[in-house]
Amino acid sequence: MPRPNNGDWRRGAGMEIDVLTLFPRIFEGPLEESILKRAQQKGLVSVRVHNLRDFTHDKHRVVDDKPYGGGPGMLMKPEPIFEAVEKFRRTESRVVLMTPQGPPLTQARVQEFSCVAHLIIICGHYEGVDERVRAALVNDEVSIGDYVLTNGALAAAVFVDAVVRLVPGVLGDENSAGDDSFAGGLLEGPQYTRPPEFRGLTVPEVLLSGNHAAIARWRAEWARQRTKERRPDLLKED
Ligand code: 6GU
Repeated sequence: MPRPNNGDWRRGAGMEIDVLTLFPRIFEGPLEESILKRAQQKGLVSVRVHNLRDFTHDKHRVVDDKPYGGGPGMLMKPEPIFEAVEKFRRTESRVVLMTPQGPPLTQARVQEFSCVAHLIIICGHYEGVDERVRAALVNDEVSIGDYVLTNGALAAAVFVDAVVRLVPGVLGDENSAGDDSFAGGLLEGPQYTRPPEFRGLTVPEVLLSGNHAAIARWRAEWARQRTKERRPDLLKED
């Protein structure tokens, strides 16, 4: 996968992500822990969270309104979203809308987004956003699966986690993303750690053998088997 920005962003500020949401705290929690926290401390990625309410100008800081033509629920108004995106957008930016109406996120799409220097992520809330946002601002739509969340900030946290862990240097072992379930189109097979016997349950002999070729064959066989059992859809040719 080529890195379209020539690696420049990796030497500078790292990957940059601006998140636009009505509920910043819902998004922020996951960033303050573990790998995502360390990625930011190491300067590999810079995530900034913005409250869309700060881009209103009326007394009551209104961010939503009723849909034209009637119907239940409220829509996000276009003006605060346009103002925020236009403030942060640069030539290299990709503007992503989190919405259950988008194409589902896959590891292949995650891979592609991990090569973008600057992501602006709009979190959809309520019944959705004014269509003019989609038409005039958005480059990509992302759903994280076929179910409905109350809040796009939760989906954005999932999306950012999946993308940031593929930025070079974020995972301790550079190889560990390569073996992921899905990365090679297959699920990972079973894995074991010490002790070699626990409550009468043993670790397969081959894994203790030190025979790396045999171990690789064993793992490949189990990856195929497990994928066939659990996710035969992944084995189908497209
Ligand atoms: Cl991106 N947003 C919401 N609200 N619900 C979802 C989703 C996104 N992806 C799956 N369900």
